[in-house]
Amino acid sequence: MSTIKNPTVMSFPLSAKGFAEEMAMQIKQDFPFFREHPDVIYLDNAATTQKPEFVLQAMNDFLVKHNANPSRGLYDLSIQATQDLESARQMVAQKLLRYEPEQVIFTSGATMSLNLAALLLEPMIGKGDEIAVSVLEHHSNLLPWQNLAKRKGAKLVWIYPDENGEISVEQVLPVISKKTKVLALTAMSNVLGQLIDIESISLAIKKEHPEILVVTDASQSLAYLPIAAVGDLICFSGHKLFGPTGIGVLAGRRDLLEKLDPVFVGGGMIEQVTPKSYTAAPLPHKFEAGTVNVVGAVGLEAAIRYKSQWSSLVLYNYIQSLTGYTIQQLRTIKGLHFLGDERKSPLHTGILSFVLDGVHPHDVAAVLAQEKICVRAGHHCAAVLHQHLGISASVRVSLAIYNSAREIDRLAEVLSGVRKKLGHE
Ligand code: ALA
Repeated sequence: MSTIKNPTVMSFPLSAKGFAEEMAMQIKQDFPFFREHPDVIYLDNAATTQKPEFVLQAMNDFLVKHNANPSRGLYDLSIQATQDLESARQMVAQKLLRYEPEQVIFTSGATMSLNLAALLLEPMIGKGDEIAVSVLEHHSNLLPWQNLAKRKGAKLVWIYPDENGEISVEQVLPVISKKTKVLALTAMSNVLGQLIDIESISLAIKKEHPEILVVTDASQSLAYLPIAAVGDLICFSGHKLFGPTGIGVLAGRRDLLEKLDPVFVGGGMIEQVTPKSYTAAPLPHKFEAGTVNVVGAVGLEAAIRYKSQWSSLVLYNYIQSLTGYTIQQLRTIKGLHFLGDERKSPLHTGILSFVLDGVHPHDVAAVLAQEKICVRAGHHCAAVLHQHLGISASVRVSLAIYNSAREIDRLAEVLSGVRKKLGHE
């Protein structure tokens, strides 16, 4: 495990800290959760974010005023529900992906999107082919490929980060060969907060192997960065972006999506059905069998609207500064070691994981929970990364725009007493 003693990090200039504090307090007012729980310090945003009133209201309005099954009825309410669904699709396409709406398929979340991606690509994988994944992957971007490889007699090949925990073209290229059919990569580690430049990696590998399909897990990166459309297929969830659970997206290159056959079939995805066969509807509906989670899509649209009140630069800079501040504060705690390399602050955003000498991460989280500080402890659905680092678990702090430096001060204060409290000092 790499541990850095004196990293240079970007933190708040002192003059900006008060302003940032004020801003976080203001933003919290938008979230009914924090009215209900004013003393909770919520630092588990990589697991899921809290939801602003604006999102709750949009979902409530839909259910109260427009609820009907979209794309099926000829009555006004169903037409309205269809418009609401398509408006959400348009918002995702334009704001998050710079795609056409037809390239956006709604799913129940990133896990379902990644499973769907693996199923859709299955006909392109044969015995002896290779699927490249990194050790940073969340189980959702690993297990579907493990299963696919087993089903087809293909092989998983592994990309390892460099000694600083980074993955760039140099780490990926040696793993790629003419046997590689898919590269499945996260755009941001849900444990290390490390951003991965998938665009450069994709360009580099496609120079020699244009046929390799790049599948991007943008679940974490989209919370902090504006655009997800890098890769041939892109997957993410709504609930890490201030939207509801139960809605996610699989998006991708139109020519690729057009070529692929649906794997889930049923209502809403057909053009014609005969006793013996069916023809699939055009994009995106051919991949949306069954009733789509319209209220979830409406919530996701509202979340994107809510989030777009800040420029992506303001959002990114705030999270970067707060990340730097967190590193600064936690670095002073005896026995605390960050996972990965936190020196490269611009590549290290919003998510920090660490271990505390002699204390199990679950015990750290339990002590924090007693003080109403919510963090995640365990392997964070990235067991292979933890095995690679030679540990079984860690504590994770993940930030959002409503978190403040004062909350980090309180986190550091409680953390600094954990070892003593548990008899390790
Ligand atoms: N994928 C979420 C996390 O990393 C649940 O915590």
